[in-house]
Amino acid sequence: MSDTAPLLQVDKLSAGYGRSRVLFDLSLSAGGQGAIAILGRNGVGKSTLLKTLAGEIRPMSGTIRFDGKEAQDEPTERRARRGLGYVPQEQAIFAKLTVRENLLLGAIGKRDRGGIDDVLDFFPKLAQRLGQTAGTLSGGERKMLAIGRAILGRPRLLMLDEPTEGVWVGVIGEIAERLRQLAKTMSVILVEQHIELALDVARYAYVMDRGQIALEGAAADVKNDPQLLKYLSP
Ligand SMILES: Nc1ncnc2c1ncn2[C@@H]1O[C@H](COP(=O)(O)OP(=O)(O)OP(=O)(O)O)[C@@H](O)[C@H]1O
Ligand SMILES: [Mg+2]
Repeated sequence: MSDTAPLLQVDKLSAGYGRSRVLFDLSLSAGGQGAIAILGRNGVGKSTLLKTLAGEIRPMSGTIRFDGKEAQDEPTERRARRGLGYVPQEQAIFAKLTVRENLLLGAIGKRDRGGIDDVLDFFPKLAQRLGQTAGTLSGGERKMLAIGRAILGRPRLLMLDEPTEGVWVGVIGEIAERLRQLAKTMSVILVEQHIELALDVARYAYVMDRGQIALEGAAADVKNDPQLLKYLSP
């Protein structure tokens, strides 16, 4: 994808749960400006892939090279400190804590004290909800809070697992616009069910099928690829 080594290089990654394998020799790369989309039907292993990249699951085999260093044996926190941001599909926020507390926790240990103000500028809806417990937020506001927490860590690569899931359709466009903005300042890996949105935001796309990459290419090409429907239809 580029002349120099990409920020993230995944080679022949296999991973799963116990003895059940979900990812099979999967290879991909990400980095540089812009977003990479990861698409695929329910259950193909998209979240398992991000969990493995983030360090929540130890791979069975394969390598994850992040910023020039092998990361597959590194603990989650070290990967995060090295600039690998991650917003999981579920439980990305503390429901019983307020929005302010969620952001303060996200900012702990961060050098940049202006970070929270930047997040509130980026997601003005959160500024109106600072004292509210996160569990009472709307679907869209929860996703904004989860993304806000992740960007407080100033990641170089931000992995987002379904940032529009459970979001009212009227707010999805706003989140897509924020993703576009984010992708101008950091690398983004976007796992999405909204295919049009993902291929619109991303410059490159991988389509997964049964734990492997079945199709990949520039987002504009993948969008028009006759094979795409085959991999995405139920
Ligand atoms: N904690 C777990 N323990 C055992 N199996 C799991 C676990 N989490 C997921 N799986 C299985 O791994 C496979 C891949 O799941 P995964 O969540 O990665 O898919 P996905 O592509 O993210 O799906 P979705 O689009 O529904 O989010 C599925 O068969 C799922 O049942
Ligand atoms: Mg998932």
